[in-house]
Amino acid sequence: MKATVREMRDDEERFCREAERQLLYPFLTRRQMKLWSEGEWPFMTQWVLADEDQIIGRATFWVHDCLKPRRRGGLPITILSLDGIFIAPENQHRGLGAKLFKKALRLAREELLKEGLGVGGLWIETAEARGFYERVIPQILAGRGLCQQSTIDIGATTLDLFHLSF
Ligand SMILES: CC(C)(COP(=O)(O)OP(=O)(O)OC[C@H]1O[C@@H](n2cnc3c(N)ncnc32)[C@H](O)[C@@H]1OP(=O)(O)O)[C@@H](O)C(=O)NCCC(=O)NCCS
Repeated sequence: MKATVREMRDDEERFCREAERQLLYPFLTRRQMKLWSEGEWPFMTQWVLADEDQIIGRATFWVHDCLKPRRRGGLPITILSLDGIFIAPENQHRGLGAKLFKKALRLAREELLKEGLGVGGLWIETAEARGFYERVIPQILAGRGLCQQSTIDIGATTLDLFHLSF
């Protein structure tokens, strides 16, 4: 066999995705795998905090990883990443960020559960908001989870991370 590395053609995408699904993610349906690889799965809703039409803030998550069930008959476990959260400057420091974050995470977990998937962890890149997460995360875990802090070096930048295990 004379094999070389080359760019994948568009018409080969489906074959490769299905091979990957069978080898790595057999617990996902073809549709879930397709949407995930297209960056759309599982329709993770963008949650906003709004007063009627006035947007005060937004929070959303995406599926960072999907792991096979821990035990027979168990649910596949997703690891989420916080995609982003903000509260409009004039509304900050009034408890709204905490409210939005906690509610959006609960809704995201419910959304995944409807797809037959559990949530086992959450990655958060803390950037400027470390103090916010240090206040809010213990309230979320409330003694039922684990929070590890770490860093990741990307080029000249070091990012602070929290990893929550539920
Ligand atoms: C981070 C952000 C969402 C927090 O929203 P908020 O509505 O101001 O936060 P809350 O009022 O709900 O604060 C909750 C707790 O976190 C604390 N907190 C909030 N921001 C903090 C900060 N920058 N440093 C330290 N503590 C902070 C508050 O004092 C509060 O503590 P308390 O419970 O003892 O009163 C908001 O500041 C924001 O949108 N920042 C710009 C975007 C951003 O940085 N997003 C995060 C990217 S990683």
